[in-house]
Amino acid sequence: MKLFLDSAKIDEIQHALDLWDVDGLTTNPKHVQASGKPFRQTIEEIAELFDGTDKPVSVEVNPHLTEWQDMVVSGKEIAAISPNFVIKIGASENGFQAIRALTRDGIRCNATLIFSVTQAWHAARAGADYVSLFVGWKEQYGDFAGDLVGEVRAMLDEYAYDSQIIAAAIRNSRQLGEAAVTGSHCVTAGLTVYLDSFDNPYTAHGESVFKDAWDKTPQ
Ligand code: E4P
Repeated sequence: MKLFLDSAKIDEIQHALDLWDVDGLTTNPKHVQASGKPFRQTIEEIAELFDGTDKPVSVEVNPHLTEWQDMVVSGKEIAAISPNFVIKIGASENGFQAIRALTRDGIRCNATLIFSVTQAWHAARAGADYVSLFVGWKEQYGDFAGDLVGEVRAMLDEYAYDSQIIAAAIRNSRQLGEAAVTGSHCVTAGLTVYLDSFDNPYTAHGESVFKDAWDKTPQ
């Protein structure tokens, strides 16, 4: 399962590149806002970090756009900035049509805000390279999301669609592990979720047991 960082902060992205060999990046308007910089400057700085790699970087079009033709124009402008950029477009009838038009022109797309197998199927039919399943948001509002990744994976495999699942909005290590076990191709989460996922209280306990034994052993 590929590990994508969900962020638009340069220091976080650099950390993930340096220490995790992160496989790619996802951003969204919230992350760009949190970077504290203008949209264009933020995505250009991110493009530089990934320059010369084949790692995908998802950048979302203006979410106010409602006409598919406008989404296509915006997607093409963003895609022209970097070959790493994958155009992120929200699930909707017009969004799927924009994805269809962009992918026909060779521009990779990530269908975002996907909450059901049916939306994922529309995205796959439209040619989306990635479908972002918002696992964490579903669970945040009380829905069970544990079977979403597996069901979407079964649908994609059954009909031999090329789209890859990104298990998105992952909030904790349990959701991270579940994404892997249920067949997600990729996962995206914020820096702190990954930092937590390296640790376990039993590991810390084990380390103290071993340190104690080491200290009591003549070297
Ligand atoms: C995914 O691609 C999204 O950017 C992300 O997971 C959205 O969720 P969040 O910003 O609430 O974590």
